[in-house]
Amino acid sequence: MIKLAPSILASNMMHLENEIRIFEKMNVPYIHIDVMDGLFVPNFSFGTAAIKNIRQITDLVLDVHLMVYDPIKNIKMFCQCGADIIAFHFEATNKPLKAIDYIKKYGKKACITINPSTMAEAVFPYLDCVDQVLVMGVVPGFGGQGLIPETLNKVRKIRAYADSHGTDLDIEIDGGILPENLRTVLEAGANVIVGGSSIYKNYALEENIQKLCNIIKEYET
Ligand code: DX5
Ligand code: ZN
Repeated sequence: MIKLAPSILASNMMHLENEIRIFEKMNVPYIHIDVMDGLFVPNFSFGTAAIKNIRQITDLVLDVHLMVYDPIKNIKMFCQCGADIIAFHFEATNKPLKAIDYIKKYGKKACITINPSTMAEAVFPYLDCVDQVLVMGVVPGFGGQGLIPETLNKVRKIRAYADSHGTDLDIEIDGGILPENLRTVLEAGANVIVGGSSIYKNYALEENIQKLCNIIKEYET
């Protein structure tokens, strides 16, 4: 199943609740929430308080993307504030298996994430124990960047590896996804599509979501 995940990094925070009501009305299943520590990436964004407030007003799946060093230290906090999926970066820890175990211990879905500079093969050993792999389409930290086309080869490789091992896996892509490249992204094998600027463009959320959903429909069986 293909799932759209609006990234609220692009949100107008003063209107976040209205935006979430639009996502619900349009049957968008996920909300992608970026957490940044100012070190792993040179920016700051949402924290546990924001996630807790969002959890209180919606049942949509909260897809939390941790762009933080030493994620193991923080996993418990993010699980307890209402995340459903926790994505940590392969580059941010030397104990990916421990991170996955922690996330699962708290009953959440585990996602391993790779930066554009990390090879697809890095996640192969973990595909059996994660629910999702997140392939960054841009260098993480900021919205509104252009998709690095080579990252799609990694989506293709991970999808092919998972298929050949009979592994049922969600592959998420984050960064630079637009209506213009969505078909190529879906054809590469991604099925969780993060959209920041593509969804918030001109603040025409409904129109932008509809446009992306129409393309997604072409690929749904
Ligand atoms: C970037 C974040 C993304 C960002 C995507 O580091 O992880 O989730 O919001 O924004 P767009 O879709 O504008 O590239
Ligand atoms: Zn993200």
